[in-house]
Amino acid sequence: MTHYYNQIQQLIKKAECYHSLSKDEVIALLLDKTSCEELFTAADRVRKKYVGDEVHLRGLIEFSSVCVNNCLYCGLRKDNKNAVRYCMKIEEILDCVKVAQDLGLKTIVLQGGENNCFNVNEMVYLIKEIKKYDTALTLSIGEKSYSEYEAYKTAGADRFLIRIETTDKTLYTKMHPGMSFDNRIKCIETLKELSFETGTGSLVGLPGQTVESLADDILFFKSIGADMIGIGPFISNPYTPLKDVCGNNFDMALKVMSITRLLMPDINIPATTAMETLHPEGRLIALKSGANVVMPNITYTPLRKYYELYPGKSAITNTAYETVSKVINMTKSINRYVSNDYGFRNRF
Ligand code: 5AD
Ligand code: SF4
Repeated sequence: MTHYYNQIQQLIKKAECYHSLSKDEVIALLLDKTSCEELFTAADRVRKKYVGDEVHLRGLIEFSSVCVNNCLYCGLRKDNKNAVRYCMKIEEILDCVKVAQDLGLKTIVLQGGENNCFNVNEMVYLIKEIKKYDTALTLSIGEKSYSEYEAYKTAGADRFLIRIETTDKTLYTKMHPGMSFDNRIKCIETLKELSFETGTGSLVGLPGQTVESLADDILFFKSIGADMIGIGPFISNPYTPLKDVCGNNFDMALKVMSITRLLMPDINIPATTAMETLHPEGRLIALKSGANVVMPNITYTPLRKYYELYPGKSAITNTAYETVSKVINMTKSINRYVSNDYGFRNRF
């Protein structure tokens, strides 16, 4: 036992000093139960050393619940007839952006299901209107063609989020009927080529997912040179084919996130909403285990309940002011401070 414990301690030290681990070493850390706290505090030290004590807030606007895809885990999948579908109007989105500015937010994240609520010209117009404000802009709108991504970059979008979800190709194919793993990778590469700050990430706890494949996910994030990584625990949604899969994945998601911080010390890592859903202090714990970003939901309140990827999402009845205030107070409560810049990645 002592020998084993020492080995794990050595691995954590190695990751903290050299930011590099083999696949077997990552697996050992994922399986370990003796030193989780040490792992989390090491990730916290690396976070402090490389990205400091500031927390970047990104105002999240969930502008549409319409989706053409059928991801097995997601409540917005097109076959979920129970889901209420909406698409905000451009003026409504810009109203949310104004509120975000008044609240001092320096990044807007436009997220929606994969759809054609706006055509390319409308999206370009929207991006340009948003960029008239003093804000960075992140898009999270799924798989598009090279020329569409290019049009959005030229219009002024700064960042793009598109999770790989899992790097296990067989599992990916099962979870995403009609979608192509290779195209997903191609999208991530295209976004990087177009100089978007590129965010990806994964779900932790999908049925059939192994620690080996979680280790592959972490090493993939590093190999592709992502600027942001969002890790979310899978949460079972009763209106999806995965309704009976147990969704208790908080601890494992936190470990995946912490190891990601150790291996990618200078990237941006959000404390995800899904973490908050599984644990009342989930985002706070994540902020103390390697995360440095929070994405308060500033969507027009009456619509929030319809953007139901999974049940139990927090803050669905709050105003933007309330959600942002809560995040600011949480940040202060752990002696961190809210950043007043755009929060681009600073490479070391
Ligand atoms: N549990 C957790 N996260 C989910 N997402 C979709 N459905 C779920 C779920 N049931 C995540 C996906 C997607 C992001 C927008 O939401 O990882 O990339
Ligand atoms: Fe659509 Fe995204 Fe949900 Fe998949 S995860 S069904 S692409 S909203």
